[in-house]
Amino acid sequence: MENAQSDEKENGEKPDHPFTQLRGSDIRGDNSIFYNIPGEPSMVVRKSFVNVSDGEAEEMDIHEKAEYLRNKAVEFKKIIDRLGIRTAKTDYIIGTDPEKDRPAIFGVTERIDGENLEETPFLDRETAEKVDDLYAKIIIESIDSYLKNGPYWHDPKNAQFVFGKAQGDEKPDIYLVDVDPNVHTWDEWEKLKEPQEFSTKPESIFWDHMKWILMEMEDLENKVDEKNFKLVKAREALERAKTAVPGAAEKGIK
Ligand SMILES: Nc1ncnc2c1ncn2[C@@H]1O[C@H](COP(=O)(O)OP(=O)(O)O)[C@@H](O)[C@H]1O
Ligand SMILES: [Mg+2]
Repeated sequence: MENAQSDEKENGEKPDHPFTQLRGSDIRGDNSIFYNIPGEPSMVVRKSFVNVSDGEAEEMDIHEKAEYLRNKAVEFKKIIDRLGIRTAKTDYIIGTDPEKDRPAIFGVTERIDGENLEETPFLDRETAEKVDDLYAKIIIESIDSYLKNGPYWHDPKNAQFVFGKAQGDEKPDIYLVDVDPNVHTWDEWEKLKEPQEFSTKPESIFWDHMKWILMEMEDLENKVDEKNFKLVKAREALERAKTAVPGAAEKGIK
């Protein structure tokens, strides 16, 4: 209580304990808004996408949003576990939205000290082999999921991963930091009522997804200081996708 009282004295605002007043963060995302917890520099707080950019959740109240997020987070965790990706430790909490003064869901993650794979200007061979494994697994998981119309992680890209250390780590490793459970099924796009600007056929969605992944892979290949370096395993996985899923040629993938 002492704290709450001194907060009130300091800034004249009503204290909102037990939730801490969040502060703006040094972290910038493309979609998410980030905050700091004062006095907790090792934590990263993001306003969950269910509050801001997941259309499905827009009309829900906070309890429905929490339930929706819980279900998505379970699916997401299954996918990430199958991929064997290290993930920044995460909790989801309900707190006060600093912009809108109403309840919102936040993801709280441990801060990974390092650079995201998009910003990293250079990859050594050891790290390049790790990202090769990573993207190979992402592609193979996508094929498996497509063949049974299962859920897939919609947002694999270099900026979602930080090569760095969590507190207590001796060596840096690749961590997934974007913990928004952006999970879809391949056929859900064609069930949308509003017409879309892109083809919503599942195989078309699949190959758009692969094209995106290929672009990210090419970016990484260019960061390795070796002539014509290729992510061999990931490219092999892409070849496997071409035999498993029709429609690559129509998307210009040779
Ligand atoms: N837990 C974290 N530790 C370290 N850096 C982070 C963490 N979370 C996010 N970042 C940094 O912020 C960037 C944007 O985060 P991301 O989660 O991908 O946001 P968005 O939802 O906007 O895509 C990441 O590329 C990374 O550089
Ligand atoms: Mg992201």
